[in-house]
Amino acid sequence: MTSLWRASRPQITSDDPPERCDDVVVGAGITGLVTALLLARAGRQVVVLEARDVGAVTTGHSTAKVSVLQGTRWSRLLRDQSEEVVGAHVEGNREGRDWLLRYCEERDVPYQVRPAVTYAPDRGQGLERAREELDAASRLGLPVHWARDLPVPFEHAGGVVLDDQAQLDPMDLLTALVEDLRAHGGRVVTGARVTGVGSPLRPVVRHTRGRTRCAHIVLATGTPVLDRGGYFAKVSASRSYAIAHEHPDPPQLMLISADGPTRSVRDAPGSLLLVGGEGHPVGRTRSEAEHLERLRAWTAVHFPDAVETHAWSAQDYRSHDGLPFVGRMPRGLGHVHVATGYDKWGMTGGVAAALDISADILGGSMSWSRPVHRRITRPRAAARIVGMNARVGLDLLSGAAGVAVRPLRPTRPPEGEGEVGRDGIVPVARATIEGRTCAVSALCTHLGGVVEWNDAERTWDCPLHGSRFAATGEVLEGPASRPLAQRRIPGEPQG
Ligand SMILES: Cc1cc2nc3c(=O)[nH]c(=O)nc-3n(C[C@H](O)[C@H](O)[C@H](O)COP(=O)(O)OP(=O)(O)OC[C@H]3O[C@@H](n4cnc5c(N)ncnc54)[C@H](O)[C@@H]3O)c2cc1C
Ligand code: FES
Repeated sequence: MTSLWRASRPQITSDDPPERCDDVVVGAGITGLVTALLLARAGRQVVVLEARDVGAVTTGHSTAKVSVLQGTRWSRLLRDQSEEVVGAHVEGNREGRDWLLRYCEERDVPYQVRPAVTYAPDRGQGLERAREELDAASRLGLPVHWARDLPVPFEHAGGVVLDDQAQLDPMDLLTALVEDLRAHGGRVVTGARVTGVGSPLRPVVRHTRGRTRCAHIVLATGTPVLDRGGYFAKVSASRSYAIAHEHPDPPQLMLISADGPTRSVRDAPGSLLLVGGEGHPVGRTRSEAEHLERLRAWTAVHFPDAVETHAWSAQDYRSHDGLPFVGRMPRGLGHVHVATGYDKWGMTGGVAAALDISADILGGSMSWSRPVHRRITRPRAAARIVGMNARVGLDLLSGAAGVAVRPLRPTRPPEGEGEVGRDGIVPVARATIEGRTCAVSALCTHLGGVVEWNDAERTWDCPLHGSRFAATGEVLEGPASRPLAQRRIPGEPQG
């Protein structure tokens, strides 16, 4: 389950963490690295602290379309927000895209120009949604047009097209950003998980490789790893899947369906075809592996010559109102900044967030960010927060009840499988990987959700706010920052 982009790429080496600097940026994905570079270019001493390695989480597993046409996002946002707010967000994405492509030109990062297409998979609701998107995008000033017949081997009822968008290999981009950041005196420290932030009066970042004092802290961690502001309760985590194939003639378009089940298609250099989609809330599905199988089945029907080379999955966060949260965190005295909630469009949204946060730290502002910062939560979005958290509450109760009544089976799980149950009264998550059975606490270290087995990635995933853990308990992603505690394997001594 490694992405095409990361499969044969050596890991970027780590610098040593400083004791003091101007700005600490947490997270080496697109948001963190662009923010860090912008600050370093302005003469500030910057360190990026990364828990895993560069691009290890969402950016390195993205399908990396750099587009201001974003599925049916603009029509959906216009249902809840004013045209001024959505227009400002479009403008931020446009500036994010333009900055990124200029940067790729300057630094020789390869990219391919492609039309972006939101296609109608059928004449019913799919067509209605695609048409609505055409109207919304036109109202917002995007030069979109309608194409009845697209050069693709699957049925469709036309699509909205925005020409001259782009696609790239996100690891090429991150590698260039790291080199550039280092050339500007910045550091990138990998294997440094941030576990806490001290008083905003004397900001200090505590991490697994020490402590670093600074003036500003930017949390570019996908979902914020500090609970202040309660962002974890205002975003939901959605996981989706991607498969790369060799194919003699992949379409030279970046496509996404206007209606479910989502299908996302693009090509890549070397005659490669990427097919993605099948999003679902993290930890809330019967079987993750089945989602991959559905993508495989769809590809086999429509691209019978495709030969699979890589398959992977990743997650991104959507806020209750569909707009990202970017800016100063509450109770941070203006020193702690956050960026989350790109709704799977962070290649432009992450750059827009970086422009916005770096401008704020440097004493300026981006004109398009103001209406988005000042937006009000409309009743429908407020109802969505209530609904999301009611669901989280139910998951918490049903997870706790399930584990309370279900003792672990007397035999170990078969290879590749995991089970949750109680050992005495202790909730235990137990899995067998490569012949070894590991037992860990079944309670997520964020806020105690009961984890679920992910049979595609062989991980423990929390359905409450999307934290994920290796079978051996290490944190992989999400708001949790502590591993699942080791437990004894029932019937055997601990160790
Ligand atoms: C399957 C999929 C396909 C997508 N395709 C597209 C697309 O085609 N176009 C598009 O625009 N967007 C796409 N997106 C969305 C886009 O990839 C993301 O929005 C974007 O990559 C998020 O970047 P980020 O820097 O915010 O987060 P990440 O890339 O996840 O980076 C966050 C980093 O923070 C680190 N971190 C977390 N916690 C800590 C901690 N406590 N201490 C230190 N470090 C920490 C993580 O290890 C990680 O490396 C896609 C998303 C998915 C899931
Ligand atoms: S992610 Fe919040 S409880 Fe697990």
